[in-house]
Amino acid sequence: MIAIIGLGYVGLPLALQFARSGVKVLGLDIDPAKVEACNAGQSYIKHIDSAAIAEQVRQGNFSATTDFSRIREVEAVIICVPTPLNKNREPDISFIIKTGESMAPHLAKGTLVVLESTTYPGTTDEDLRRVLEQGSGLRAGIDFHLAFSPEREDPGNPDSKVAAIPKVVGGLTPACLEKARQLYGRALKTIVPVSSCRTAEATKLLENIFRSVNIALVNELKMVYAAMGIDIWEVVNAAKTKPFGFMPFYPGPGLGGHCIPIDPFYLTWKAREFGQHTRFIELAGEINTAMPHYVVNRLVEALNARSKSVKGSRILLLGLAYKADVDDERESPTFILLDLIKHRGAEVAYYDPHIPVIRPTREHAQWRGTPSVRWDEQTVSSFDAVIICTAHKAVNYQQLADWAQCIIDTRNAMTGLKPRPNTVWKA
Ligand SMILES: NC(=O)c1ccc[n+]([C@@H]2O[C@H](COP(=O)([O-])OP(=O)(O)OC[C@H]3O[C@@H](n4cnc5c(N)ncnc54)[C@H](O)[C@@H]3O)[C@@H](O)[C@H]2O)c1
Repeated sequence: MIAIIGLGYVGLPLALQFARSGVKVLGLDIDPAKVEACNAGQSYIKHIDSAAIAEQVRQGNFSATTDFSRIREVEAVIICVPTPLNKNREPDISFIIKTGESMAPHLAKGTLVVLESTTYPGTTDEDLRRVLEQGSGLRAGIDFHLAFSPEREDPGNPDSKVAAIPKVVGGLTPACLEKARQLYGRALKTIVPVSSCRTAEATKLLENIFRSVNIALVNELKMVYAAMGIDIWEVVNAAKTKPFGFMPFYPGPGLGGHCIPIDPFYLTWKAREFGQHTRFIELAGEINTAMPHYVVNRLVEALNARSKSVKGSRILLLGLAYKADVDDERESPTFILLDLIKHRGAEVAYYDPHIPVIRPTREHAQWRGTPSVRWDEQTVSSFDAVIICTAHKAVNYQQLADWAQCIIDTRNAMTGLKPRPNTVWKA
């Protein structure tokens, strides 16, 4: 039996993949509601089927608990807990440390511990290693095995099946790496070994920094080209026909999600310890965080053209989730837009078919409990403008074109539709 700690967006699909492959999985989480839901065969994540959980519970391959003492029953532990930034935008690895402290007293000799949470190089072989060794009295690489393997979930992408995504793995020692290879080899198709935990940690950061920098690039070009009367979407779609040396990235209202806006700053922080600067990361962060302000400026222009001001207007934000077709609103730029537009004196509301009510968040507590508006002509047409923040497939954009007085489109969702003249503004 193996344990997976943290049954969230990463841990739950991974647990199911192991269970489906015939490995017995014990899910551990500090949230009793998630544990109860798992044991009852109920999903709390939109793109994971309840039936898939129920089936593995029924077969006896998957169960969940809050009891860390059960760590002594397992041969391997995979840690998938959150790694956010604190309010000073510095890494907060306290979830990893707490997990290490909770499990260490129950760690048996010979157990393999793998960290999957995205983090800076050195977390596994310095920070996690320290708490595990102190709490267990065992030595990493001698009494127990230690490894890092970054997670590569692509939420909302139906093509993304955990089993088919190559898995990078780095171990503290060659024996640790071998143990980790064997573990993942039981459930996943392709394992990519690297020379150390730090290399594996750095690989994940490169992947996310690559996205952040390229998204910032198209966001900057969006503004430059818009000033020249050129549509960035048309440009990207043309450029991506090049069969080599180009990969499309798309502009938007700002970065969202648990990874891309956050992870690069884990490296920025760690790099300072080595007297190194991460200028690309800082610049990309600056451009991407300026995007909601650009969208508000476009809203001002659109309202102006109708002799209206933001103050006193009613503005609807379409899409709270940070990306299309998911129910995950973490770090969503829609929150920033809600704040900015409300601050300018408008009445704001949101519509999201996947998020009926805003759940509590640490950063945007003031919006907690706000319900999504209804999707009907009377409601949508009552707003002075609608800003498309997320292009969910479940939304009927022709209805939006028919009903809305004015549309600010940050996702190119209105292309190919028939809106009334002068009602759509790209942003
Ligand atoms: N969501 C993604 O698409 C994605 C993609 C790549 C990498 N990651 C990384 O994976 C990690 C996990 O992300 P996630 O999206 O699954 O987070 P999540 O918030 O969905 O899930 C984390 C789970 O860990 C539990 N938890 C917190 N502290 C705990 C503790 N001390 N002991 C046991 N359980 C605890 C929480 O209750 C929650 O269920 C992060 O480092 C993240 O950066 C996430």
